[in-house]
Amino acid sequence: MRTSAPLRKLPALVLAAALAAGAACATHASAADAAQSDTSWQSWKANADVTNIASLQRGARDFVGYCLGCHSLQFERWSRLGHDLRIPEPLLVEDLIPPGEKPTGYIISPMIPADAEKWFGKAPPDLSLIARARGTNYLYRYLKTFYVDSDRATGANNLAFPQTAMPDIVSPLQGLQVPVYQTIQRRGPGGKMTQEEVFEHFKLIAPGRMTPQQYDQFVHDVVNFLDYVGDPERAMRRAMGIWVVLFLLAFTSVAWLLKREFWKDVK
Ligand code: HEC
Repeated sequence: MRTSAPLRKLPALVLAAALAAGAACATHASAADAAQSDTSWQSWKANADVTNIASLQRGARDFVGYCLGCHSLQFERWSRLGHDLRIPEPLLVEDLIPPGEKPTGYIISPMIPADAEKWFGKAPPDLSLIARARGTNYLYRYLKTFYVDSDRATGANNLAFPQTAMPDIVSPLQGLQVPVYQTIQRRGPGGKMTQEEVFEHFKLIAPGRMTPQQYDQFVHDVVNFLDYVGDPERAMRRAMGIWVVLFLLAFTSVAWLLKREFWKDVK
């Protein structure tokens, strides 16, 4: 049977159309995802992983560089940090420990709490247990949602912690951002229409030293590090847990074989 040329090309045409539609859907979906991820900042995840030593080392370096000026980790010693994060002592002394401090000392900020209270209205809290108290996802959102607010004494505000006394010390890295709100009409009680401002996304008004991807990595590393500090034994406990379970499995099979041997002749 003879098929006309256009008909013979039909499958190819259908395939091309399907591919194009698929591609269009994909771009549409990714645009929607981007908008979605901005609007729902409450669902951003830290994806902390305390077994990632390289990330913990970067987090420790960044904590010392950007947070230690105000925040202490009063339950962690420098030597413990060096041991857990596999940082040799000479490097620890040279790069992380402030001059005059000993490796056996605790990680204490030089900021005097009484002064800090005078300057910020609130003393910066100790961050040893902050990841356990607030959760890593909160910390991630806190460090990503500082924005410019000229009504505040610090010039900054925060979506995760409105009216925070902490200045936006991350803006040199992240850049300065302002929130863009969307006005939404809602039918209130009694059928009255009310207007509501809902956060839509952040607009960067001055870029920082880092690209958004680099800044994400920075926040991820710092949060990861705070997660480790909140429970320094965790990685070791998990690694040991696997061996304990393996031992119990092996022991169970030995016990079962023994039992079979002992009961063999008992009828
Ligand atoms: C210039 C001083 C300063 C620096 C530097 C600083 N902070 Fe803060 N931070 C504060 C103050 C002040 C508060 C108290 C805010 C409040 O309770 O309103 C605070 C609070 C916090 C909190 C507690 C939020 C809560 O929900 O209670 C976290 C977490 C935090 N800072 C993390 C960091 C991290 C991580 C860094 C480094 C990247 C950092 N801070 C650097 C001053 C600082």
